[in-house]
Amino acid sequence: MATHITRDVDLAVETLRKGGIVAIPTETVYGLAALALDETAVGRVFSAKGRPRDHPLIVHLAPSADPSLWGVLDDNALSLAAAFWPGPLTILVPRTALVPDWVTGGRSTVALRVPSHPTAVTLLERLGDALVAPSANTFGRVSPTTARHVADDLGDTIDLVLDGGPCDVGVESTIVECTHDGLQILRPGAVTRDDVERVTGVEVGALTGGARAPGMLASHYAPRAAVEVVDNLTAARDRANEIDARGGKARLVAHDDPSDYARHLYADMRAADDEGATVVVAVDPGDEGLGPAVRDRLLRAAAR
Ligand code: TXA
Ligand code: MG
Repeated sequence: MATHITRDVDLAVETLRKGGIVAIPTETVYGLAALALDETAVGRVFSAKGRPRDHPLIVHLAPSADPSLWGVLDDNALSLAAAFWPGPLTILVPRTALVPDWVTGGRSTVALRVPSHPTAVTLLERLGDALVAPSANTFGRVSPTTARHVADDLGDTIDLVLDGGPCDVGVESTIVECTHDGLQILRPGAVTRDDVERVTGVEVGALTGGARAPGMLASHYAPRAAVEVVDNLTAARDRANEIDARGGKARLVAHDDPSDYARHLYADMRAADDEGATVVVAVDPGDEGLGPAVRDRLLRAAAR
């Protein structure tokens, strides 16, 4: 049976209330949602993705929900929430007693996010309940940025895909840890290090490679093709020609604007696999805006 793709938010709400698992659009990537407090439904999310049970999930809340029911937000966390929610920011804080072990993999912290995609907001407000929503891809594949990507990847293992069009940001939310005196960015995204420092007035520790965010493996961001990152377009063309001349099949990935780069990155990687490319030759996105987030995904993919 083909996956049911719909734009009917009420159908998605009903399906979730009954313990179903529904792929939902967010401004970053599509998520595979289930009621956070429904152990069976959350279990189905892990199974559908083929994801290890100890990889913690992000709790997604409506703009009107009270995050303090779920986590203990310090001043930095509150400032970040006020500035960037709803939006592509996940805040990692100590959890409350409400948060079940099946969400955090038994950790003492919980990741919270209030998405801004209008469809996600409508869904969460009508539902009036929190959702877990890991990226809606099978474990080890790149994240989906369209409803079609989700249906192609997860097929009929899920109950419904709620179609909200292509994702605007294109890479996963920034994860900021606010659990002790310092702030740490565990995963770069559309909310930049500068943004975090400006709002909190606190200097942010250098990226640690995500050691404390289990599940941030290189393979999560990698296509089947090998990935090489080069400095500029000329170098990329030379390298692609060299690969083709040796009997390989190169696909060039480059976008001038870092936001465009992020928006198209995962679709480009899927396209590379679909056309049987052996190597993705990607131009470094630079340091502005979403550049570091795109570079992070590219370098993880290249390091695989
Ligand atoms: O943009 C996003 O955040 C998307 C959309 C769908 O909201 N979701 C997403 O979820 O990227 P997921 O599960 O694919 O990635 C969540 C990351 C994982 O690397 C996980 O290890 C980390 O967040 N994480 C979640 N809870 C954590 C916790 N308590 N401690 C450390 N890391 C945590
Ligand atoms: Mg993911």
